[in-house]
Amino acid sequence: MKGLLLAGGHGTRLRPLTYTGNKHLLPIANKPMLLYGLEHLRAAGIKDVAVILGPVKEGVVEALGDGSKYGLNITYISQPEPKGLAHAAGLSEAFMNGEPFVMYLGDNLLRQGVVDFVASFNERRLDCVIGVTPVKDPSSYGVAEMDGDRIVKLVEKPKEPKSNLALIGVYVFGPAIFHAIRKIKPSWRNELEITDAIQALLTDGKKVEVHRVSGWWKDTGKPDDLLEANQLVLADLQSKIEGTFSKETRVSGSVAVESGSKTVGSVNIRGPVTIGKNCSIGPDVYIGPYTSIGDDCMLAHVEIENSIVMKGSRIESGKRIVDSLIGSFSTISNGDGAVPKGYKFIIGERSFAQI
Ligand code: TTP
Repeated sequence: MKGLLLAGGHGTRLRPLTYTGNKHLLPIANKPMLLYGLEHLRAAGIKDVAVILGPVKEGVVEALGDGSKYGLNITYISQPEPKGLAHAAGLSEAFMNGEPFVMYLGDNLLRQGVVDFVASFNERRLDCVIGVTPVKDPSSYGVAEMDGDRIVKLVEKPKEPKSNLALIGVYVFGPAIFHAIRKIKPSWRNELEITDAIQALLTDGKKVEVHRVSGWWKDTGKPDDLLEANQLVLADLQSKIEGTFSKETRVSGSVAVESGSKTVGSVNIRGPVTIGKNCSIGPDVYIGPYTSIGDDCMLAHVEIENSIVMKGSRIESGKRIVDSLIGSFSTISNGDGAVPKGYKFIIGERSFAQI
């Protein structure tokens, strides 16, 4: 069994955060999101993984290298334009070389991992396993229409869904998928759809089954999804304090603080909260539940809650910050006391501020 991790696409819905880097490197609980998928592949006994890279490659090769530091052999495959999930899968045919593989969308987070997917694929000698889960609004997803346990049809973003079982972005394929991909045509949105390729497998009488995931699943396409994924991962956080605390620091709940970080003066941290390396926190700082602070950040005179602060940022606002995504090396300050007073912004295209 091999692995295929998709990290292509434009990530338009996460702009401006994706102007300067690949969306799959955005941190969830201080870990680049694509590492969650890679760790699931490794936990399923997979060693050889191809990573699909699209137009925004920045940082991925630097972060993952040849995979050896994660116990994997990583090969990169270029997909210059996001021509669809089936197109991305098709590019991996030579790499897979006849072996079955797990295809994992790098922007998906899944609590339970993929071990069970691989086991049912192998034990039941299938051609394809599709991960599914019930959702409230199936019309935004690829949907599996079922007759009991049997898949009847797959429909991409149906206007009138006949089932609430959404495809979650994790699949196991045997080599028959490549023949199916060659048979399909681009859809109305000009993409080769993986749902169409799997539909072609069904039409050919291949053995396709769904696997209902237990535990949470999150697709991190939009800004609010990143905050929700951060909450879901932090809910399982184990306390680990490697930094140093001032004597006025109060901590409750699960809190992880990495080495080289320190608190200064009065600081109140109410977990789950994770703080990276070499941060300076305080004085007069409250960090509330579901907040992740990346490496090398500086926070003073601020209350912050349910937010992701990325590496190298500096916040001295005197205000309360909630539900926020703060990109790397950003500064939020309350000025230097000079007049005229007012809000001052230097924010790039497609930024969002609520004041
Ligand atoms: P999408 O969320 O459909 O696309 P995107 O990531 O480019 O985001 P946006 O819609 O905001 O522009 O992609 C789902 C996942 O699949 C994501 O991890 C990117 C990956 N992908 C590819 O690698 N190649 C492709 O051709 C497509 C369509 C997606």
